[in-house]
Amino acid sequence: MSGATCQRRLEGKVAIVTGGASGIGETTSRLFADRGALAVVIADIQVEQGERVAASIGHGRCTFMHCDVTNEDQVKSVVDSTVQKYGHLDIMFSNAGVVNRNQGILDLDLHALDDLFAVNVRGMAVCVKHAGRVMVDGGVKGSIVCTGSAAASVGGETHIDYIMSKHAVLGLVRSACRGLGKYGIRVNCVSPSALVTPMMCNLLELDEEGVENAYSHRSSLEGRVLKASNVADAVLFLASDESAFVSGHNLAVDGGYLNR
Ligand SMILES: NC(=O)c1ccc[n+]([C@@H]2O[C@H](COP(=O)([O-])OP(=O)(O)OC[C@H]3O[C@@H](n4cnc5c(N)ncnc54)[C@H](O)[C@@H]3O)[C@@H](O)[C@H]2O)c1
Repeated sequence: MSGATCQRRLEGKVAIVTGGASGIGETTSRLFADRGALAVVIADIQVEQGERVAASIGHGRCTFMHCDVTNEDQVKSVVDSTVQKYGHLDIMFSNAGVVNRNQGILDLDLHALDDLFAVNVRGMAVCVKHAGRVMVDGGVKGSIVCTGSAAASVGGETHIDYIMSKHAVLGLVRSACRGLGKYGIRVNCVSPSALVTPMMCNLLELDEEGVENAYSHRSSLEGRVLKASNVADAVLFLASDESAFVSGHNLAVDGGYLNR
């Protein structure tokens, strides 16, 4: 692929990014626009922040829509209005997610678990469902990417509601890739290990450097620290035609952490 083609990897593509107002979603929205996407629709509950990100990318390429993924009507509305405005939907990056403070098995707060599952599991399923529907209706052989986590593949003593929810994302991806594969639609998962984003800074009550220091040992790549741009690059691969025969895959972006 020539440099110029590489820069235009998403030319003509229309993408929705949930959780695009911040962190991994924001960085990926910027990369999608930079790689030639016709339109990137940021769907998030953070209105001011989402508007600001969309404006900084440029309203010609990026728009913001308020959308709470726990509300199926709102997800359907974002998906339908995207198709009405741009004619089709090629990429759904279902990325919105939340984490609770420590949740161990003996003191598991099930209301907090329900709230987390409403976003990380139910919200993810709703996004895949409605993106899949418009892709099928429009005859689009699109790409759906869900944000999992290294926590999708290992257990832990704490944050077990989060760990359970990310295991569920893998089940969703592995199942949806079958149901949608017969229409030529691919469904994949990107699974980062811990990295600096507002989610992690808030959770750990640390600044960016503090979060990086806390997790720097969780990589086999000496001297390298995972950045949101590394995750965005992996999402771009899964979203683009370069991964045309990749579906049902869980792409770890963890510096070999889980293989240690
Ligand atoms: N940061 C990490 O270490 C890490 C590691 C692995 C996986 N992840 C996953 O990456 C994804 C993005 O997280 P991040 O780290 O960029 O965090 P972040 O907090 O920076 O971004 C998450 C975004 O999701 C949005 N959001 C939350 N609830 C929503 C809802 N109900 N509807 C719509 N939008 C909603 C937030 O407003 C925010 O903009 C999440 O799914 C998270 O679980 C993060």
